Amino acid sequence: MSNNIVFSGIQPTGELHIGNYFGAVANWVRLQNSGQYQTIYCVVNLHAMTMPYDAATLHQNTESMFVDLLAAGLDPERSIVFVQSMVPEHTELAWVFGCVCSYGDLTRQTQFKEKSEQLEGKQDAFISAGLFTYPVLQAADILLYHAAHVPVGQDQKQHLELARDIAQRFNHQFGEYFPLPDVMFTETPKLYALNDPTKKMSKSLGPRSYVALFEPPESIRSKIRSAVTDTGNPEEPMGPGAQNLLAILRACGRNDLAEQFERDYANGPRRYAPLKDAVAEALIALTEPMRERRAALLADRAHVHRLMREGAEKARAIAQKTIREVRERTGLFQPPA
Ligand code: TRP
Repeated sequence: MSNNIVFSGIQPTGELHIGNYFGAVANWVRLQNSGQYQTIYCVVNLHAMTMPYDAATLHQNTESMFVDLLAAGLDPERSIVFVQSMVPEHTELAWVFGCVCSYGDLTRQTQFKEKSEQLEGKQDAFISAGLFTYPVLQAADILLYHAAHVPVGQDQKQHLELARDIAQRFNHQFGEYFPLPDVMFTETPKLYALNDPTKKMSKSLGPRSYVALFEPPESIRSKIRSAVTDTGNPEEPMGPGAQNLLAILRACGRNDLAEQFERDYANGPRRYAPLKDAVAEALIALTEPMRERRAALLADRAHVHRLMREGAEKARAIAQKTIREVRERTGLFQPPA
């Protein structure tokens, strides 16, 4: 029982950087534009409540992630783009799924183990039950829309397996109803921190480790110029920092330039200033229309809120039908109308 419905979600963590963009969002845009799928993308603010957080920040980050996704190329005419908490059916289905998901399976989720261990080290450690049941809500996100395809990174594989188990147990108990969702794994470039290219690009490594997707051109140039490389000595192999710059250039669609640099570097000392200039200019050119779209959206927040409401309405129309059918199948009492 497969179909062409794609679902994915992203937590509202603050500004998108080029690592998030090339690693996930660019792929979402490609799937949307391929015309082969019905694409549904969600800002998963309920998932963001599972770790200690600040209410005002979450509120602000939810709106800004919605804006950023549209600016990055998600198109509300072609995809359903919405905020999770505006469709309360997610939490209702999560409850039902919590009752067809085994406690044992949840205890084996490595992300829970990692995140709870991370919290245990802290003062006033508080590990919420929400963190534990996080993958149940994720299964509900996906199956509420009967999505068969879920573009996510390798780190989400175990959550997807659990979603399949949940769908299977539900179907077994209540009759064939949900598709078994599949990870849609696409090779995406993995970018490393500019200031420490042995680590994955991440905001936690400080502002000089990443380039934000909507960063002003001058700031992009400055960050790329100060990226860690190597001495360029042709007797020694190229270091991870320089390779990371070449990867960014390719991710921007400038394979031609990347190959040119590789040819030059094969024949002598590696001069990195021209590479850095090329990387910065490629990033600036790629993100130019995104910066413009974002500025236009931020200048008309009433329009943004309208798009949010419309996205949620479209999602809800599908979600409500699923919930009605789930209630019938699972024996939840509803007096006749
Ligand atoms: N857990 C995912 C992540 O951390 C986010 C997510 C929540 C998600 N619900 C989803 C991804 C449903 C895909 C489908 O990246």
